[in-house]
Amino acid sequence: MPKIQMVYLKGQYEKIKNEVDLAIQHVLNNVTFINGPEVKTFSTNLEKYLDVKHVIPCANGTDALQIAMMALGLKAGDEVITADFTYVATAEVIALLGLKPVLVDVCPDTFDIDTSAIEKAITPKTKAIVPVHLFGQCANMEKIMSIAEKHNLFVIEDVAQAIGADYTFSNGTKKKAGKIGTIGCTSFFPSKNLGCYGDGGAMYTNNTELANKCRLISNHGQSVQYVHDSIGVNSRLDSIQAAVLDIKLKHLDEYAARRNKAASYYDQAFANHPQIKIPARVKNSTHVFHQYTLQLNGIDRLKLKEHLASKDIPAMIYYPIPLHMQKAYHDPRYKAGDFPVTEQLCMNVMSLPMHTELKDESLKYITDTILDFVN
Ligand SMILES: Cc1ncc(COP(=O)(O)O)c(C=O)c1O
Repeated sequence: MPKIQMVYLKGQYEKIKNEVDLAIQHVLNNVTFINGPEVKTFSTNLEKYLDVKHVIPCANGTDALQIAMMALGLKAGDEVITADFTYVATAEVIALLGLKPVLVDVCPDTFDIDTSAIEKAITPKTKAIVPVHLFGQCANMEKIMSIAEKHNLFVIEDVAQAIGADYTFSNGTKKKAGKIGTIGCTSFFPSKNLGCYGDGGAMYTNNTELANKCRLISNHGQSVQYVHDSIGVNSRLDSIQAAVLDIKLKHLDEYAARRNKAASYYDQAFANHPQIKIPARVKNSTHVFHQYTLQLNGIDRLKLKEHLASKDIPAMIYYPIPLHMQKAYHDPRYKAGDFPVTEQLCMNVMSLPMHTELKDESLKYITDTILDFVN
């Protein structure tokens, strides 16, 4: 049995090695490291895959969120509502731009932003909502879009963990995660569902004016060489990463299917267990299982994690501390107990190995080991 890893990139790479090595060698031969033709080719292919007018590549998912907020003209003091239970990058860029992160709780079954909490958090200063499609399944976009329309708010979807997921509205309209709101922002960090071999990210939108602003901002606000129309940043996807991504994009749906297969195995093993809650699937969204995250009740999580480590099984806690309890995001408005669902999740979640190369043999070993410990 191969060594079990949270993410097994080597195994995935070996299957596409010839194609990837050739593509990287091609960039090396041409020495077009920045803005080479691979960047345009990948962006165009991703536009086709997502059925979106504009993909604007950039250096990472954090930059994608920042550039999107800058391009939307959000100003210091504007309030941006996001989930308390997310990776720090989501709130980080809001704070970095001098905007005010307004945190709200999440739903206990899906881990996604609680839409009733969004409505309560809206003030005259609210300008945008940032739903995070956490762990690979879309937030309740139908409700979020109706709140946004009612209050005239931008919706910046954080799709770092959910590229490729499909959302279906109650009228049957289907859209890829990230092209439902005003703009979608994703990450190509190596462990992501569509990951490159370094850092990378992208924004996507159907709004041409917004896309042009994102392009301008991601390149120092430069319209013509050495002419700067706005303050920007230096955030580019390099050609080698684009070449790798273009190859992996062809496999993205197959990767999601493999992740789903592993998730189904876990689901079956833990179904109806009194102390283990499997991740809920919502009917409006497909799940691309960036993470497979259990909720443990009445189980000593640290002892279980240690036990798994002693059996060479890694497990991770995404995320151990709610944003409102982080020193960097300390805000006198918030105190312990304000976001009970997030606080509870931070104490009882555990993510299991999840990647495209998991075999039944490993899945059996992981689930048997967990059940042996718990039972
Ligand atoms: C939900 C979420 N948002 C944003 C990011 C930031 O992406 P990057 O690491 O590419 O900057 C991540 C990456 O882990 C993420 O998980």
